[in-house]
This record gives sequence, structure tokens and C-alpha cells, in this order.
Amino acid sequence: MLPEKVEEILNVQIYKEDYSSQLYLSMASWAENKGFEGVSNWLYNQAEEERMHMLKLVKYINARDGNAVIPGIEKPPVDFGDVKVMFDKVLEHEKFISGSINEIVVVCIAENDFTTQNWIQWFVTEQIEEEASVKTIIDKLNLIGKNNLYMFDRDIMSMRGTEGETEA
Ligand code: FEO
Repeated sequence: MLPEKVEEILNVQIYKEDYSSQLYLSMASWAENKGFEGVSNWLYNQAEEERMHMLKLVKYINARDGNAVIPGIEKPPVDFGDVKVMFDKVLEHEKFISGSINEIVVVCIAENDFTTQNWIQWFVTEQIEEEASVKTIIDKLNLIGKNNLYMFDRDIMSMRGTEGETEA
């Protein structure tokens, strides 16, 4: 049985993962319409990853006799300025998500829920990988400057987000 506070914060995380999925889907659509095939592929994959994270939480809560609540999601932005500004936003968002996962760990410890504390470690590792992946992309963008975005887009085509790296 999940402690109430753990169930509550895991349900909040469902919302955040679901919103992340919608945010990256909106970014993917924006990038696709700008002609950035590689960038949009990366983002479509990332949107799928976030949906998988959301489902993982839903299934865990229900498996522990809790009630997973499927939230309504606010509409994400539709315009992201330029590719560099957009990836800066992705990194900022992932740091926010990492902070949320850390909060879950804190609540698990406070509630003596060591099962969930152990289970949530998968997300802790996943966040390290996600932040690192976005930082790599931003480093590439900083190296090439604005003049060679076409080459950057080809380059990112071979990156498939963090898909499968830490599949549980
Ligand atoms: Fe599921 Fe990118 O955090």
C-alpha cells in the first residue's frame, strides 16, 4: 500500500510527464514545419519517451493499490523562437523534472516508503541521461553557430533521444 503523500506526489508527476510529452510534441510539430527533419524526429521520439514515463507511473501506482489519476493537460506553447532557444527550454524543463524526481525521493524517505524510493531510482538515472543528451545537443549548437543549422539537423538525425537507454 502506498502512503498517501507518496501516492499524491506520484500523481503530480503523472501530470508533469504527460505535460512534457505534449510540450515536446508541440516542439516537434514546430520544428517539422520549419523544415528541421532531424530535430523534429528527435522531439517526436522524446514525446513518446515522456508518455512512456507517464504510463510507468500510472501502472506503478495502481500496482501498489493506489489510484492513478489521469489529468487534463494545459496547452503547451506553439512558437519556440529558434532551435537554440528551443533546446535551452528543453534543458530548463528537464532540470525542472529532475527537481521533481528528487522531491519524490525526499517524500519516500520521510514516509519510510523504501519500495518506492528504490523504484524511483530508474527515473533518477533517466534524468541524468536526459539532461546529458540535451546538453550534448546544445554544445553542438554552440559549436556550429547559426550558419550551419542544416548540418546540425543532419547530425541530430542519428540521435534518437534517450529512447531505450534505460528501458526497465
Ligand atoms: Fe520524463 Fe524528460 O522527463
